[in-house]
Amino acid sequence: MLNKGFSMSGLVFCFSFFLLPLHSAYGDVSYSFPEEMKRGSVIGNIAKDLGLEASRLSTRRARVDTEGNRKRYCDIHLSTGDLIVAERIDREGLCGKKASCVLKQELVLENPLELHRISLHVQDINDNSPQFKDELIKLEISESAFKGARFLLEEAHDADVAQNAVQSYTLQSNGHFILSVNTNVIELVLDKELDREQERDLTVLLSASDGGTPQRSGTVVIHVTVLDANDNAPVFNQAVYKTSLPENSPLDTVVVTVSATDADDGVNGEVTYDFGHISEENKNMFFINSKMGEIRVIGSIDYEEVSSFELRIQAKDGLGLASYSKVIIDITDINDNAPVIYLQSLTNPIPEDASPGTEVGIINVQDRDSENNRQVRCSIQQNVPFKLVPSIKNYYSLVTTGELDRELVSDYNITITATDEGSPPLSSSKTVQLSVADVNDNPPVFEEQSYKAHVTENNNSGSSVCSVTARDPDWRQNGTVIYSLLPGEVNGVPVSSFLSVNGDTGVIHAVRSFDYELFRSFKVHVVARDNGSPPLSSNVTVSVFITDVNDNSPQILYPAPEGKSFMTELVPKAAHGGSLVSKVIAVDADSGQNAWLSYHIVKSTDPRLFTIGLHSGEIRTQRDISESDSMKQNLIVSVKDNGQPSLSAICTMYLLISDNLAEVPELKDVSYDENNSKLTSYLIIALVSVSTFFFTFIIVILALRFCRRRKPRLLFDGAVAIPSAYLPPNYAEVDGAGTLRSTYNYDAYLTTGSHTSDFKFVTSYNDNTLPADQTLRKTSIDFAEALDDSDVSPEVGLQIYII
Ligand SMILES: *[C@@H]1O[C@H](CO)[C@@H](O)[C@H](O)[C@H]1NC(C)=O
Ligand SMILES: *[C@@H]1O[C@H](CO)[C@@H](O)[C@H](O)[C@H]1NC(C)=O
Ligand SMILES: *[C@@H]1O[C@H](CO)[C@@H](O)[C@H](O)[C@H]1NC(C)=O
Ligand SMILES: *[C@@H]1O[C@H](CO)[C@@H](O)[C@H](O)[C@H]1NC(C)=O
Repeated sequence: MLNKGFSMSGLVFCFSFFLLPLHSAYGDVSYSFPEEMKRGSVIGNIAKDLGLEASRLSTRRARVDTEGNRKRYCDIHLSTGDLIVAERIDREGLCGKKASCVLKQELVLENPLELHRISLHVQDINDNSPQFKDELIKLEISESAFKGARFLLEEAHDADVAQNAVQSYTLQSNGHFILSVNTNVIELVLDKELDREQERDLTVLLSASDGGTPQRSGTVVIHVTVLDANDNAPVFNQAVYKTSLPENSPLDTVVVTVSATDADDGVNGEVTYDFGHISEENKNMFFINSKMGEIRVIGSIDYEEVSSFELRIQAKDGLGLASYSKVIIDITDINDNAPVIYLQSLTNPIPEDASPGTEVGIINVQDRDSENNRQVRCSIQQNVPFKLVPSIKNYYSLVTTGELDRELVSDYNITITATDEGSPPLSSSKTVQLSVADVNDNPPVFEEQSYKAHVTENNNSGSSVCSVTARDPDWRQNGTVIYSLLPGEVNGVPVSSFLSVNGDTGVIHAVRSFDYELFRSFKVHVVARDNGSPPLSSNVTVSVFITDVNDNSPQILYPAPEGKSFMTELVPKAAHGGSLVSKVIAVDADSGQNAWLSYHIVKSTDPRLFTIGLHSGEIRTQRDISESDSMKQNLIVSVKDNGQPSLSAICTMYLLISDNLAEVPELKDVSYDENNSKLTSYLIIALVSVSTFFFTFIIVILALRFCRRRKPRLLFDGAVAIPSAYLPPNYAEVDGAGTLRSTYNYDAYLTTGSHTSDFKFVTSYNDNTLPADQTLRKTSIDFAEALDDSDVSPEVGLQIYII
């Protein structure tokens, strides 16, 4: 048998386990040997195994052939008959993972032809290490993975087979994973949870080992990246944020910046800020920047409204884990409120007689700020008679400090200023208008101390004489002046019948017309009274002077007016030139210029014989009387006053140049040389003589009676001494010389308004009736009314009716 002939000792390599004798029914041999033997290595002595003679091999042209065109891995050594390795034999290359690897070769011998099949069993050796597909395995595992989670790993590969293939895996020890190998399924098992926040990634080494000798192994690095899970809530860096903020901080002021951190990554660690539960008001005050955590002012912060804020702040990460904190903002006061002055009460108006110290008003001052900012001082402007008296807390009384006088200052604008003690201080002021009420404390005062009024005589009644004005500075009725006449009398006549005063205007009117010749002046008192209660009054004297009007024509006293007497002057024939012959005596009831009389000869028998003194009325001869001169000389004399217009009177002077009164009968011719009959002349002479006698007699009786009663001096002897004082200053003094002692009468015609009949009052004059400072009084019907105390009432002497 061939198989029996195969000897183990014939092998170069002593691998007892694969040198198995292979039996072949047709002379086949088989050899078993390890792979990767060197070329030329002897596999076995095939000659011997086949029972062939080694020396004959070459002759029989022994050679190894392959089936088909397969590669020839072995060869025969012809001299020895050894089968040797001809090519590298790699089991993994030839057979891969097959459990047995057999190479078929044939040994061919010629002469005779023999064919032997050779089976070469290639044995595996551990020449490959286990190998992982990649050098690095990357795993991403969420940190939220639970314990026991499995992660499949790819197995390692070993080209070798059987024992030489991968037999075991080992995992480098680490804190989190263990390895689970289960029928070629290799898994990483989480044994302890991951925390990304502690370890973001970890690396473990997995090694695979085969069962060969020597053992070979391969490793792979497993890189585990821990994926984040949102397992951390944001955390504020302070539990409470305390800050203070001045009120009125401008918009956008950053109050505080809150900050929270989240350990998570990415979205999970993105913190956003917001307010927690917040009131609507606070929402309008503050704004929180959701990214930065800055809290800014967006409203007006008023300490006086809210002095502190408490805001809940929330920090939230991307997936909604939140935490909370608190911001406490204390608002600090700023002096932003000026004090406010309230007028609590005011007595307005104040009577001007209010005594100093009278409380007029109450003032309250308030300031909304706090502490020093609300400490308020109050003051009042100077120069007013008021002051502020501090009362209970923030209350002040406004009191008067002096006398008030409405007539000086009737209104006060009192400015009260309140200033707080803030810095800078704020102040405000209020003006209180106070008026002073009137008290009737001023009597009316006349503008002048006394008034003088001049009224022309004969003026219409009702004409205004003058006006008086009194002022009363008081208010309204207390200052309303009413004028009235103080009751009184002038010559026993009530003043009201002379004058009246307009109660409102003070204009004084004449109630009647005045006659200068009756009286020249009088005084009345006008009272000005106000309408107060009680009324105050004052009075003033009004002196009324009546001014003269030339309303009286001169009255010729001597000679008696023409036709009414037969007075004839005797001129001695021996009279020399310049001798006083006679004198025209005239008076004028007016005064001044109106009574300034001048005398002119208007017509004369012989113009060159007599002259008349312009002012004296004295008639003098101009030359010596001569025989040729006519015995009867008539002069017509005009007497004019100096008024505007002037009034005049005319008289006729009969002169008889004769030494003998016996020539008197011719007088009748002188008097009535024109048209009177002798009878009439005689009748007239007789009547005049009787009348003269009667008149003289009555006068004497009355004069005696009068003198007994009042003035014993009064005599009426038929002659009138012309009072020199009566005459105007320029008049020449008459020394009683000449013929002036002759008796003459004064006849006055008086015609008054309502009495048109002609009355002739014959009035006698003497010193007393013509006082120096008075004009001759004209008697009138209203006699009794017009007389002044100092005057002696002129006596009515005799009334003679002449038809
Ligand atoms: C007070 O004030 C009022 C109004 O401003 C003004 O009309 C008046 O003249 C003032 N009076 C005084 C006394 O200043
Ligand atoms: C006038 O004065 C009196 C006090 O004398 C006073 O009571 C009254 O009110 C005053 N009248 C006016 C209008 O002021
Ligand atoms: C008197 O009357 C005259 C004229 O009629 C007039 O001019 C004069 O002013 C009056 N005088 C008085 C004081 O009334
Ligand atoms: C008039 O005034 C004087 C002082 O001016 C006074 O003495 C007199 O009493 C007053 N007369 C009247 C009636 O008021």
